[in-house]
Amino acid sequence: MPYPYQIKSYDQYKADYKKSIEDPAGFWGEIAENFTWRKKWDEVLNWNFTEPKVEWFKGGKLNITENCLDRHLEKHGDMPAMIWEPNDPEEHHRIITYKKLYEKVCQFSHVLKNNGVKKGDRVCIYMGMIPELAIAVLACARVGAIHSVVFGGFSAQSIADRLYDAQAEYIVTCDGAFRGAKDIPLKSVIDDALIGNRTVKKVIVCTRTRTPVSMIKGRDLWWEDEIKKVETMGLHDFPAEEMDAEDPLFILYTSGSTGKPKGVVHTCGGYMVYTNYTFVNVFQYQPGDIHFCTADIGWITGHSYIVYGPLSAGATTLLFEGVPTFPDASRFWDIVDKFKVNILYTAPTAIRSLMGYGLGPLQGKHLNSLKVLGTVGEPINEEAWHWYSEHVGKNNCPVVDTWWQTETGGTLISNMAGITPAVPSWATLPMPGLEMVLVDEKGQEIIQEGEETISGNLCIKGPWPGILRTTYGDHERCRTNYFATYPGMYFTGDGALKDKNGFFRITGRVDDVLNVSGHRIGTAELENAINMHSGVVESAVVGYPHDIKGQGIYAFVIYQGSHGQDTHGTAEMIRKDLNQTITRIIGAIAKPDKIQFVSGLPKTRSGKIMRRILRKIAEGDLDNVGDISTLLDPTVVEEIKRGKL
Ligand code: PRX
Repeated sequence: MPYPYQIKSYDQYKADYKKSIEDPAGFWGEIAENFTWRKKWDEVLNWNFTEPKVEWFKGGKLNITENCLDRHLEKHGDMPAMIWEPNDPEEHHRIITYKKLYEKVCQFSHVLKNNGVKKGDRVCIYMGMIPELAIAVLACARVGAIHSVVFGGFSAQSIADRLYDAQAEYIVTCDGAFRGAKDIPLKSVIDDALIGNRTVKKVIVCTRTRTPVSMIKGRDLWWEDEIKKVETMGLHDFPAEEMDAEDPLFILYTSGSTGKPKGVVHTCGGYMVYTNYTFVNVFQYQPGDIHFCTADIGWITGHSYIVYGPLSAGATTLLFEGVPTFPDASRFWDIVDKFKVNILYTAPTAIRSLMGYGLGPLQGKHLNSLKVLGTVGEPINEEAWHWYSEHVGKNNCPVVDTWWQTETGGTLISNMAGITPAVPSWATLPMPGLEMVLVDEKGQEIIQEGEETISGNLCIKGPWPGILRTTYGDHERCRTNYFATYPGMYFTGDGALKDKNGFFRITGRVDDVLNVSGHRIGTAELENAINMHSGVVESAVVGYPHDIKGQGIYAFVIYQGSHGQDTHGTAEMIRKDLNQTITRIIGAIAKPDKIQFVSGLPKTRSGKIMRRILRKIAEGDLDNVGDISTLLDPTVVEEIKRGKL
């Protein structure tokens, strides 16, 4: 069997789970034996959740790219490592074998080194979904630099904040990116982000859209020119930097309930073992299968299940540049048909949006290559689950509902395709190694009695190899965010149900984090952005149920004491101005669906905004706003209700 640690039955799952909890070090140590290490670890696991400190395979020496590339060359060098489908279906796709990918990563590693990149340096990557993005990521890992990929939808200001936080010295970007009918001028956004920046020394620009770009002498370099230099020197190999298992591999910024986004740090050894293990088990990957994860590499899903998980398993991973509805709503199905995709992994929001187009786009598409379907990023409603299973999977493919987070590195709760039971809208069982508990507000573990289903805040009792190690540059923030709410446990920020079978159903965030189309948006961060608009006095943002996005954003805004009408125009114009401000500060993904102008916000006497009331109003549950007697001015509630959009 190609993957000795691939679980093949429900009984085996139960046995492995038991073993993993009784002896985590023994369990994960055995799995880690299946990777290429230059030197074996001194100790499998060392941890406490008080500091917190988590070390897996410490003293073990490796380079993750030797596991993703080199070790496959001898037997599978000519196998496709990556298939790339461009945004425009008329443009030719690319198939990159393991040999070719190895060569390209080595060449770009030389480019990085030639430009001064060393082990531990931070490299910000801001590119569209082209193979060079994956190549840049892997080349950073090969030279030991820490990559920080920023999703192409973030604004210059967001990039500037991330560059500053990471003290990044290098950027890899593109002239532009194609996304559906749009052409995004990435380099120009980078130029704006660099105004006032003092750390960045070099910007490497890969050609994609050939949009006009400014290239500053001494700082900006073309990717192709740099590669040519390496080629002229006949360099095809690059000796990978030796990394400790606990050396940082990457930083990925994500929103929390307070302040600016945090730089979640993952390290080399544990992350590799965990993403590979979950990839092989959750999707039940078989050699030769074509795996299509529709996420962007700018998010954790792309890091773990387009790049590192699949490639470390010697799989074929499909990278898609475009969007599900361009040029029409049959795009995913065309791709599945064209490449005979076996595993399709997407987000509930994409499924719901495609459902809206009816069955027409599916007609005539051959989807019988599909074996496994997956979802990630947000709770999936039963209707979408059934549609996916029935019309895409033809009732023949297990659907895996994978629950996890940027901080967890890989999937923590999910059924394993065809091996453990699937229940629509339930993520079901924890992966081996994961002891998940539900706690009440006071941090008391809720004990299940008899066959009852319990509900509470989802926490984890101990570490798994893919857990975040810190938040970049601010370890205390990592402690307070994840390990202080319920001492001794990692707090996920999600609420969940647990039934008599031990299956979990995630009910959504219990903190002030929104999940819009599977993207995490911090309400505090968004309010800060809105409040930066010159006419805004104060604002409050809440989520509300949205048919396609899962959650929509509802903003209540006090605008210069009026209802949004002023000398600058109508309320509608001011809404547009606000959206412009938000797009500049965070990015278009954070634009509210609704902006209601109000003259006051429901506040307690101590000045705290009662979000519970605003949430009820945004949901349209006007009669159940609850007790408002403790408010400083209860009359604002009536006014807000009257103005509801
Ligand atoms: O609320 C959960 C939701 O997405 C959050 C994590 O977001 P992010 O770090 O951006 O990572 C998304 C991709 C892994 C979680 O706290 N979430 C993710 N997957 C699911 C989910 N909610 C319900 N079901 C899921 N399968």
